[in-house]
Amino acid sequence: MEPKHALHSGYFHPVLRLWQSANVDVKPENLMLPIFILDEPNSITEIQSMPGVKRYGINKLKGFIDPLIAKGLKSVLLFGVSNKLIKDENASSADCPNNPVIQAVPLLRKLYPHLIIACDVCICPYSSHGHCGILNSNGTIQNEKSIQRISEIAVAYAKAGAHIVAPSDMMDGRIKAIKQGLASAGLSNQVAVLSYAVKFASGFYGPFRDAAGSSPKFGDRQCYQLPSGSTGLAARAAARDVDEGADMLMVKPGLAYLDVVRQTKNAYPQYPMFIYQVSGEYAMLYHGAKNGAINLEAVLKEVLLSMRRAGGDVIITYYTPLILDLLQPKANL
Ligand code: PBG
Repeated sequence: MEPKHALHSGYFHPVLRLWQSANVDVKPENLMLPIFILDEPNSITEIQSMPGVKRYGINKLKGFIDPLIAKGLKSVLLFGVSNKLIKDENASSADCPNNPVIQAVPLLRKLYPHLIIACDVCICPYSSHGHCGILNSNGTIQNEKSIQRISEIAVAYAKAGAHIVAPSDMMDGRIKAIKQGLASAGLSNQVAVLSYAVKFASGFYGPFRDAAGSSPKFGDRQCYQLPSGSTGLAARAAARDVDEGADMLMVKPGLAYLDVVRQTKNAYPQYPMFIYQVSGEYAMLYHGAKNGAINLEAVLKEVLLSMRRAGGDVIITYYTPLILDLLQPKANL
């Protein structure tokens, strides 16, 4: 007897399977590539914790990015790495003239007129203590001073030519402070604010802190990043940033938080939703595949589709170069 609720007849052919997967395909415009930019212009260095990902000095960016543009790269997210620049309480090097991001932005604008350039805005890569805000002498965050400084840094990146500034610090009020800073600089209409709105305190950031040299020297980030069990704070964090004027929202990390992605997208369908597949997610897939547990391409494709299905419009991923390869005409992602 025919089963009443037969499903197999709906997906016995590759085209039928595509129809069943409507709107969850992955295209180059759904990808943003994070790039670590060194303060040593002629260097390229390996990142031990993220095999296959490198840090590039500005004179080495063209060699890395040219082939990716040819394969359809649409957007990048820049992180500065300071080996030589001083680190102090105020993160002075975040917006000094020889900051690698400040130098890279105009160069990339000139080399790639169609590429969208986003800059991560934070204090931790440039502060002596490695925290994401300005601290009081007892080690607690000074909110007012922090958001002031974060706004200054964002405006500096905007003046350098960034299309998007992306504050990753999680301080209350920083979106509003940045918006006001951009308005005073006359840049309101040329620069979008992508808020790391829903950023959890996560063990998945470990490899990044090695890559960017941004580990906190004491304590952790639990007082400003969200507790991983909380969906309520996640909703309030998104509401806060929408209220302060964010143009786009992000949930981070990705894979372990796709319920939060769906919750946020449902609450704010009008906003482009970004998902950051963070360093630990990159490394986990890499090592899982290297040790024979999974097939990297198959699992990566599955994870990307799950992120799109959850409501992600753009996925920030270190795998962008590989995915662009997979998307070239012969491949079928
Ligand atoms: C800095 C920042 C971090 C990441 C992006 N921006 C580290 C952190 O918050 O500890 C993590 C990205 C990744 O793990 O790939 N505030």
